[in-house]
Amino acid sequence: MAQYDSFARFYDGVNGEPEDRIAQILADIEEFRPDAHSVLELGCGTGAILAGLGSGFSLTGIDISSAMLDVARRRCPSARLLEGDITSFSLAQSFDVVICVYDTLNHVTDVALWRTVFANVAAHLAAGGIFIFDLNTLGRLRDLGDMAPWVYDFDGNTLIMDVDFTEEPLSRWHIRVFEHHSGDVFTRHEETILELGVALDTVREELAREFTLVAQSDTQGATPTDFSTRALFVARRNPF
Ligand SMILES: C[S@@+](CC[C@H](N)C(=O)[O-])C[C@H]1O[C@@H](n2cnc3c(N)ncnc32)[C@H](O)[C@@H]1O
Repeated sequence: MAQYDSFARFYDGVNGEPEDRIAQILADIEEFRPDAHSVLELGCGTGAILAGLGSGFSLTGIDISSAMLDVARRRCPSARLLEGDITSFSLAQSFDVVICVYDTLNHVTDVALWRTVFANVAAHLAAGGIFIFDLNTLGRLRDLGDMAPWVYDFDGNTLIMDVDFTEEPLSRWHIRVFEHHSGDVFTRHEETILELGVALDTVREELAREFTLVAQSDTQGATPTDFSTRALFVARRNPF
């Protein structure tokens, strides 16, 4: 089973609708690639972002979890959805926009493969195409590692999530969902998800091989640092 396979059917209930993240992506497309027709999402999960981008684009999503894709097929039937690995995908198509959001890149736990992902994204972008991605920073992963476990009731079920960052730069997200049936009858589902923290200067250096950074921000609109809660990047593919 791939990571997220057990968590897939609870994912949207826990995360809610990503309206803010969709609005940010649409604003970035409007600013940096207003004539975009095609969008590829790497690590599209349950398709919440693709569904929110609307019918104005031809939509493609790749994810490694078949269970997440099953949800995505219901949520976004118009999208072309493919099971695959974002570190090694190969599609006979280029896109105006590639997105990789909600810390999906952090899920690639070998930094050498980030270079592979960037090269692969560049190879799948049309001339002048843009790559929109976000990251959990090292500082954010450290903070999460020091926090008390997150306990969250949703749809009658309970989630407990505990992030362990003692093996820095690799964080372990221990996720338990107690699915409620009736009275005190529950089914327990467990999953451990790994995320890698990478210094933002390293990210910028790797990115510069294939891209020119056109925007970068933290959640407040300032230049992101390794202490920011989240780092958001928009990069344009360099001419080949
Ligand atoms: C945090 S979720 C984000 C989902 C979606 N982008 C969103 O914003 O809701 C990360 C997703 O990346 C997928 N993923 C992680 N590593 C992957 C890989 N190497 N190749 C393809 N998908 C991957 C997971 O299966 C999961 O669906």
